[in-house]
Amino acid sequence: MLDASSTLLVRACRREQGDGLPVWFMRQAGRSLPEYKRVREGIAMLDSCARPDLVTEITLQPVRRYGVDAAIFYSDIMVPLKAAGVDLDIVPGRGPVVAEPVRDRAGLDRLVPPEPGDLSFVTEAVRLLVAELGETPLIGFAGAPFTLASYLVEGGPSKDYARTKALMVGDPGLWHDLCTRLAGLSAHFLRTQVDAGASAVQLFDSWAGSLSAADYERQAQPHSAGVLAGVADVPRIHFGVGTGELLTRMGAAGADVVGVDWRIPLAEASARIGPAYAVQGNLDPALLGAPWPVLAERVREVVRSGAQAPGHVFNLGHGVPPDTDPGVLGRVVDLVHAEGPALRAE
Ligand code: CP3
Repeated sequence: MLDASSTLLVRACRREQGDGLPVWFMRQAGRSLPEYKRVREGIAMLDSCARPDLVTEITLQPVRRYGVDAAIFYSDIMVPLKAAGVDLDIVPGRGPVVAEPVRDRAGLDRLVPPEPGDLSFVTEAVRLLVAELGETPLIGFAGAPFTLASYLVEGGPSKDYARTKALMVGDPGLWHDLCTRLAGLSAHFLRTQVDAGASAVQLFDSWAGSLSAADYERQAQPHSAGVLAGVADVPRIHFGVGTGELLTRMGAAGADVVGVDWRIPLAEASARIGPAYAVQGNLDPALLGAPWPVLAERVREVVRSGAQAPGHVFNLGHGVPPDTDPGVLGRVVDLVHAEGPALRAE
């Protein structure tokens, strides 16, 4: 059994990494890998998440190929909602689509609260994975209530989250009850992964950056804090896109590590959040298509900036784009491993 506390990832999350620098990528599992496309052929995304054999294989693929310092569980933030009875599909190239959007109390009442055993396929997959991973830690994850609510209320991906925000400010009682229910589902999803052997977790509040700091603090942060409180026994990473103005609050929600996108240098993010938190990030994923010498210099810049924080986990500022050349990701991992310690010691 892995002693998680000794891995570079967990030490970095706990601000005890020295000059070592762990690297993994959001959305490393799936997307750009040809071996992923092969095993997924003819199988719908959410069906693949319910098959522990496939989940294990797909989660391991990027670990084998890149030698990253962590695996991220192959699943989706919508999986616990499907288990709660929501009729939804993940449409390739588009994202989650909900058949009957939730916009009133009757919609909320359709969400079945979690029950012991309803995520047994998750338990089985995590157990298989942890056995296969050996020394490599597994990161479990879930969606934060605001981001989950945005899919449920809009019915699918959105640019402005207009219906979600209208419900949030127009019917704060219903919003509170909806987010409380979603927090319970996400907490259950995370707890299931940790109980089965995940070494750390990441809470994705991908779209929280669309909120003002005041609305985030009132209407989103308390619910995310509730989710994170349920897994205080492992390191907790808290991530969103465009959250430069929310970083302090995302840390205060109960994180050990604050995920940062590419819009703000890690050193500045860390100065905003303070010395009690490590940071994760933040190479702009769009730069993966730039010529290697230019990209390599940007990787070094991220490493140097991250060295100013009390802990740093190297990652992209958001997920791997679908058209990424896997060879480039491999070169980024090799560079971080080869030069990271010396750059951090500068
Ligand atoms: O490698 C990993 O990160 C592990 C697996 C993972 C997936 N989704 C697999 C997936 C994780 C951690 C997620 C989280 C997730 N899902 C988030 C938060 C992360 C983020 O990007 O901010 C969100 C917002 C979702 C909802 C979702 N699911 C979206 C927006 C999409 C993209 C649709 C598309 O095709 O671009 C999905 C689908 C999805 N989730 C795929 C994978 C591998 C692609 C499905 C496919 O290959 O058909």
